[in-house]
Amino acid sequence: MEIFVVPDAAATGTVAAGLIAAVIRSKPDAVLGVATGGSPLPVYAALSSHGLEMSRVRAYALDEYVGLPTGHPESYGEVVRREVTERLGLDPVNVRVPAGSAADPHQAAADYDAAIRDAGGIDLQLLGIGHNGHIAFNEPGSALDSRTRVETLAARTREANARYFDSPADVPTRCITQGLGTIMEARHLLLVASGRDKAEILAAALNGPVTADCPASVLQRHPHVTVVADQAAAARLEPGNNPVQVRVVDASVGV
Ligand code: F6R
Repeated sequence: MEIFVVPDAAATGTVAAGLIAAVIRSKPDAVLGVATGGSPLPVYAALSSHGLEMSRVRAYALDEYVGLPTGHPESYGEVVRREVTERLGLDPVNVRVPAGSAADPHQAAADYDAAIRDAGGIDLQLLGIGHNGHIAFNEPGSALDSRTRVETLAARTREANARYFDSPADVPTRCITQGLGTIMEARHLLLVASGRDKAEILAAALNGPVTADCPASVLQRHPHVTVVADQAAAARLEPGNNPVQVRVVDASVGV
């Protein structure tokens, strides 16, 4: 595992975008796994300035709410359309998000898992981390080998995401999420974290035991993980703890 610690959230974007750009340059039809929420926004902003040819890049979102009408501005389908497809210039036919408004979301989840496999798997999966250690919407207690499925959102997750809705009660209670086993099949995992409020959970995930109580801890078992954290989020990491190595980089240089 390689960990880059950078000054601030904008710098997480610069560094992570540099890594993604390198993948796309070497494989113009790369399959990216894309995240939503606040953490990846600086990454997409920085990536858009690379001026890459993105028309053959394929993208699969991590998750989607169940129960929002198609086209709801806070559905991840819409967020991905705005922040990824349009901002980065992907072809919409190459971008997929789980079908949260499908009549049978369980079938939609299974179909999504199969679609990722049929695409040849994900080359690089971008991830954020929730305050309770979730990645995608694999809440604490999720099986470490779980597949894409319908899940119930934890109260903490609904609270955190209430900032995107008019009222906390409007946050959906269920979602379709890639499973931890699905995520672990991606060839490269790139976790971005910023802010003091992520410091404890980031340390638990990277330095603590691998346990379903902290789903992100499963990353310790993946052979190719890069973490890009700002200094606030990295504040509780234990630099001496094998296998974690912290390198402070000058974000203006990139990697
Ligand atoms: C989003 C996702 C979630 C977020 C996590 C952190 O697609 O899967 O796991 O990455 O909730 O969200 P932010 O970045 O808003 O703190």
